[in-house]
Amino acid sequence: MPVVNLWLAARDRPLIIGHRGASAHAPENTLLAFQTAREHGADGVELDVTLCASGEVVVIHDDTVDRTTDGKGRVRDLSLAALRRLDAGQGQRIPTLDEVIAFTADWDPPFLLNIELKPSVALREALAAAVVDAVWRGGCAARTLFSSFDPLMVRRLAQLAPEVPRGILYHHAMPAFLRRVWLAPFAPHQFRHPDIGLVTPEEVRRLKAQGKRVNTWTVNAPDQAAYAAACGVHGIISDSPRAIRPALG
Ligand code: G3P
Ligand code: MG
Repeated sequence: MPVVNLWLAARDRPLIIGHRGASAHAPENTLLAFQTAREHGADGVELDVTLCASGEVVVIHDDTVDRTTDGKGRVRDLSLAALRRLDAGQGQRIPTLDEVIAFTADWDPPFLLNIELKPSVALREALAAAVVDAVWRGGCAARTLFSSFDPLMVRRLAQLAPEVPRGILYHHAMPAFLRRVWLAPFAPHQFRHPDIGLVTPEEVRRLKAQGKRVNTWTVNAPDQAAYAAACGVHGIISDSPRAIRPALG
């Protein structure tokens, strides 16, 4: 049966998506941050994933654990057992993608997941395959959107899981070939994820005319959220869903 994806549903306001969860209010990319996002009125969360040394998909932004935990070292050099011992703040641990999917599985309304796959030439194939496996295993394809700064990752995801929509990430400080998404024809996708510095009414109109949806990041000020909404974006990724919610009606 075809998957009807909730990211593609018509809405009367932009989706509110917690960036790394409600990361302004809880340790980023933890179960507490995702639960807090929900409590603060988010429709879903963005989370960053990569592979650890023992092959599991773990939810963490950086290449190393140094900034977000009490440990040191590269994620890809540490086993899941070693990562589990680390303190991510407020009693939180680094979760696996499987845990996040299970934790949010029964939330009503369904809680949207924007899974951002971190770029890595060495891990691209294995990460894409492992993330797709986790989504099918967890039964969350209908509430999942993949995104990546790496167009070749997006291309691989399109091959592995064409049913799950994909977004290409870029920001205003990137080189022109990435900022203007020149590789787009090679990476089938439905969403563009420009940073807020690239969002204008004209740009959103241009992308919509190409049939794309637009989610922007990272928007924490209510007036900036109102601006993004006025530009016509479909989703706003914020460290503080609670702060921007009132500005969106
Ligand atoms: O997905 C939006 C945003 O998270 C992309 O940048 O570095 O925060 O993962 P980063
Ligand atoms: Mg991210």
